[in-house]
Amino acid sequence: MTKSVLVSVAWPYANGPRHIGHVAGFGVPSDVFARYQRMAGNDVLMISGTDEHGTPLLVQADKEGVSVKDLADRYNRQIVEDLAGLGLSYDLFTRTTTRNHYAVVQELFRGLHDNGYMIKETTMGAVSPSTGRTLPDRYIEGTCPICGADGARGDQCDNCGNQLDPADLINPVSRINGETPDFVETEHFLLDLPSLADALGQWLRGREDWRPNVLQFSLNLLDDLRPRAMTRDIDWGVPIPVEGWSDNGAKKLYVWFDAVIGYLSASIEWAWRSGEPEAWKKWWQDPKAAGYYFMGKDNITFHSQIWPAELLGYAGKGARGGKTHAYGEINLPTEVVSSEFLTMSGSKFSSSKGVVIYVKDFLAEFGPDPLRYFISVAGPENTDTDFTWDEFIRRVNNELANGWGNLVNRTVSMANKNFGEVPAPGALEDADKRILDLATETFGTVAEALEQSKFKAGITAAMHVVGEANAYIADQEPWQLAKDETKRERLATVLWTALQVVSDCNVLLTPYLPHIAQQVHETLGRDGVWAATPEVREVTDEMPVDLVGVGLPQEGQTYPIITGDYSVQQAKWARIDVVPGTPLAKPKPLIQKLDPELAETGPEWAPVQK
Ligand code: MF3
Ligand code: ZN
Repeated sequence: MTKSVLVSVAWPYANGPRHIGHVAGFGVPSDVFARYQRMAGNDVLMISGTDEHGTPLLVQADKEGVSVKDLADRYNRQIVEDLAGLGLSYDLFTRTTTRNHYAVVQELFRGLHDNGYMIKETTMGAVSPSTGRTLPDRYIEGTCPICGADGARGDQCDNCGNQLDPADLINPVSRINGETPDFVETEHFLLDLPSLADALGQWLRGREDWRPNVLQFSLNLLDDLRPRAMTRDIDWGVPIPVEGWSDNGAKKLYVWFDAVIGYLSASIEWAWRSGEPEAWKKWWQDPKAAGYYFMGKDNITFHSQIWPAELLGYAGKGARGGKTHAYGEINLPTEVVSSEFLTMSGSKFSSSKGVVIYVKDFLAEFGPDPLRYFISVAGPENTDTDFTWDEFIRRVNNELANGWGNLVNRTVSMANKNFGEVPAPGALEDADKRILDLATETFGTVAEALEQSKFKAGITAAMHVVGEANAYIADQEPWQLAKDETKRERLATVLWTALQVVSDCNVLLTPYLPHIAQQVHETLGRDGVWAATPEVREVTDEMPVDLVGVGLPQEGQTYPIITGDYSVQQAKWARIDVVPGTPLAKPKPLIQKLDPELAETGPEWAPVQK
């Protein structure tokens, strides 16, 4: 039965190019999942975009001495290139500075406000004593009041992942000049999380199949639910759609209030762009639809607490009651799938510390699939994981090139040389049946793993078949059979068996290695699109929407999106029979082996630090 599956991918800040730590967290896992779901016949909508508001952008714009709008435009474009280059198959990758996004965010705020979940309060805001300017959250650093780590920011502690308010920090200082901020009274709208606590708890306690660390972290958050400010003293963001507020250029909605709404606004934009403006409802209003959210662990709070709270309050589902609004009752996440951090020699990837490997450089030198492979098989799925060049080179050379590349190459080469086509098998022997049965069973094993976002388990099972197939060939010694005219039928049987297993492994590896999979498809003498690749397209911001306030995005701007027509691809989660008589050409080399010396030195653009 076809299911509607929403694949919601965390929105990268447009404050710099993406490094491999980012794509290990949200990028590759979400794409493997989406590609599998499509192959399994489900109706997938995969959406995301760049997150362009908030102090992360302001801090970087200041640093580069450019306007925040120029900064956002430039890095939006760069990130689109990075993610499309990795083959991430978004149905729509957009941005948070579209007019549609602003409109959807204002609608959600109005619904929450109307239902009583936005409470106006006087809070303490940070001001620079030397300039008198308000200091946005990220400009303030101090000790985390929850875990005690140094270097926590006014919005969030990267160490424990908790969301903070600047006034919570112990020993707060300004990142601009080190001075201690003054805290002065300022009015804000707070999301009344305590009145949504029961509804949140009820939803969360029904989520048994999440990764245990994600679920436990999320449940712990319920113990300390306080109202959270959803507006900020900042001039860059979505205007607050309330009389007397929307025209105040110095107050905007909090970046995290708007960013998570991107999942909905991007779905609405996608529907409009595909000519069926109501089509988004299939993933959001049908209670049978499923929604999976992919991110790094520093984003969990916002997806298992803030976003569901916004949805519950908007639909009038908390202790304050209320009614539904324009979008009706919209689905809460089915699962929040979070990765841990990818580190380099122990430190979290961070451009500020100079420990960084950019996706762009990586793609230029190695292409997308080696990185996709590494992240899938050795990434931070359940624990923080260190990236080393040594392990990367070893895995690519030993597993991808010597394992998978070699299996395809020698199987097709021998078939080409001896028959020029897929040979017709004679009677199967036990060894042939064993390897074919293993391949058949593994479809179920990998499917089960992927449905539970167990990416490592899935690729390990697929690569196990690759290993067994190589052992099968070593045992059967087809090169010996080829020397003896009387063994020709046995040779045909062995090569046919090996080709069938190559074909099966290629199906199993397609979600992980879509670019290599397309090549293998062709190497097996098949044509057409096996695994579709996303494309970058330039579009115009011209959706008709109603907006209020000052500082709105201009109408008619153009911007790049990632999209794709994945319905044209042939990839299905099932065995394809190899057909005797299919012509086979001499195979081209599939996977390039990497220079082992790189293991010690690293490439020039990211040298190993001694
Ligand atoms: N921009 C945030 C980050 O990089 C992630 C935002 S995810 C979304 O940590 F939920 F807001 F979309
Ligand atoms: Zn902390």
